[in-house]
Amino acid sequence: MDVLINVFVALHIIGIASLLGGFLTQMKAMGAGTARFSPAMLHGALTMLVTGVALVGLNQADDQTVNNIKIGIKLAVLVVVLGLVYVKRDEERVDKGVFAAVGGLTTANIFIATLWT
Ligand code: HEM
Repeated sequence: MDVLINVFVALHIIGIASLLGGFLTQMKAMGAGTARFSPAMLHGALTMLVTGVALVGLNQADDQTVNNIKIGIKLAVLVVVLGLVYVKRDEERVDKGVFAAVGGLTTANIFIATLWT
């Protein structure tokens, strides 16, 4: 079970790499107001959701304690990110504020995940 959990943690991290990477590579475009939500960002956010839910199930099946408040906050923040990226996925230019919000919320989730021990 440990190996399976670690595989899902790895997939979870690939998801965040895709979501945050998509944001970081467009910071210059964001400043110019020409950034857009790339498929990598949408698929990264979806990967976070699917692997996160799987991790909750796997940890509970393995009798490991899961911090429900921390997971609930990460889930709520991710739902906002996913909603924004999904709704605006076809827009060729995303408003600077909306794009920055997705990057900021994603970064906040990384700090929640790593600092809340
Ligand atoms: C952008 C959103 C998210 C980020 C940046 C993120 C980040 C991380 C990171 C870095 C880890 C490994 C470190 C650790 O074990 O504490 C982790 C583990 C985990 N994540 Fe996430 N996560 C996100 C969303 C979610 C969601 C939506 C869920 C569940 C619905 C979730 C559930 C879990 C679980 C169960 C673990 C392993 C158990 C734990 O240690 O807390 N994550 N996450």
